[in-house]
Amino acid sequence: MPENDKINVLLIGSGGREHALAWKLFQSKRLGICFATPGNPGIFDYCSPSSVNPNDHDEVIEFCLINHIGLVVVGPEQPLVDGLADRLIEAQIPVFGPSMEAAKLEGSKEYAKAFMQQFEIPTAAFRTFSLADRHAIESYAQELGHPVVLKADGLAAGKGVIISSSPEETTQALDRFELDSSLQDAASRIVVEEFMEGEEASVFVLSDGHSTQILQPAQDHKRIGEGDTGPNTGGMGAYCPAPVITPELMERIDREIIQPSITGMQVRGCPYTGVLYVGLMITKEGPKVVEYNCRFGDPECQCLMPTIESDLLEILLATTNETLDQVVIHLNDDAVCCVVLAAEGYPGSYRKGMEIQGVPSQRQTASESILIFQAGTRMEDNQLVTSGGRVLNIVGRGETLQKAVNLAYEGVSRVSFPHRVYRNDIAQKGLQRKY
Ligand code: AMP
Ligand code: GLY
Repeated sequence: MPENDKINVLLIGSGGREHALAWKLFQSKRLGICFATPGNPGIFDYCSPSSVNPNDHDEVIEFCLINHIGLVVVGPEQPLVDGLADRLIEAQIPVFGPSMEAAKLEGSKEYAKAFMQQFEIPTAAFRTFSLADRHAIESYAQELGHPVVLKADGLAAGKGVIISSSPEETTQALDRFELDSSLQDAASRIVVEEFMEGEEASVFVLSDGHSTQILQPAQDHKRIGEGDTGPNTGGMGAYCPAPVITPELMERIDREIIQPSITGMQVRGCPYTGVLYVGLMITKEGPKVVEYNCRFGDPECQCLMPTIESDLLEILLATTNETLDQVVIHLNDDAVCCVVLAAEGYPGSYRKGMEIQGVPSQRQTASESILIFQAGTRMEDNQLVTSGGRVLNIVGRGETLQKAVNLAYEGVSRVSFPHRVYRNDIAQKGLQRKY
């Protein structure tokens, strides 16, 4: 395809992550029409709505052929774990995201841990069991010493990891895995692993199967409450770059974790393409992998996109045709902070349909210092209302982390909806380390 040809894109997803991807893709000189499904009102400022069902792979392929789609960008993990990328590749439609086999790095914790063991990638000590094997699980937990971490093997929508502080809690955790009908498949196998002490951070690696390019290190805030308290959520805020990952540490992470991961997937015959999200614990002994994900983090992506100066469409395309080594990815020096506004009750039950005020309806430019990325929103009688747990992502960016944080919270004060909740301490760990 000649370099200057316009490329139509199909963007799959409906969260803040996909809104940030749509905003950044829209800045590409090569973008033709960008379609999005299921999308959200913010995404539709940049993309044409498509009603194609991302779970129906035949329908996706037919849509792509009819609309001359030159790149499918898959935001969330489920379509990748279900093999959408494989079907698209068979139909010769370029796709940003890994094959079903490579997506097992996220889809199966048992697979990921065995992979790390085979390629000597640092991670917590572990063993894998059938859930029915309760006695063996309990005695291995005793052997490791509490706290221990019990993980459902499969995708579990954030409910699959339990940290247990005592033998009694381990028994209760196993009961929960057994009784939760939504977890039955995911929890039929259980990984039991050593509890790692340290600070968590996320590293995002673009890969075309062979070459890699690393984006800014980021830090998520997974718990609902300030000071990292309360239940886990999809993420209540993020910032980048995270100073816990110094340039020297990033070199070590590249050498000990990233390169062996990419080479390992080649050796296994399923080269990893797309973005590999490596969740890390920075322990006293060094960086260790907590988990792999086969997609961008949400809300980390909302922070990463404003740091990329280069053409995102060119970058994502390069991951699909083994040309990532020919692309120069220019990252700016901005610090970026994202604060998530959620509906009260999240991550449990919450109300929907509450009116949202203050969100501009026009497109946001490339250079804005406060950006709003929508997540659980919809239009009702021409009014933007809430339709999910995580509702808005307010992003600030500046030349220092403090400025980025101030701008993000200034953005928070410009928008409103009833019973919103958010954390006031996003990026505090980074600020304390830096100043
Ligand atoms: P995961 O889905 O594997 O990322 O686990 C969710 C969260 O549980 C992680 O972000 C960590 O905060 C925590 N976690 C998971 N595994 C461990 C571990 N081995 N040691 C300490 N914390 C862990
Ligand atoms: N922010 C955590 C995740 O995307 O899984």
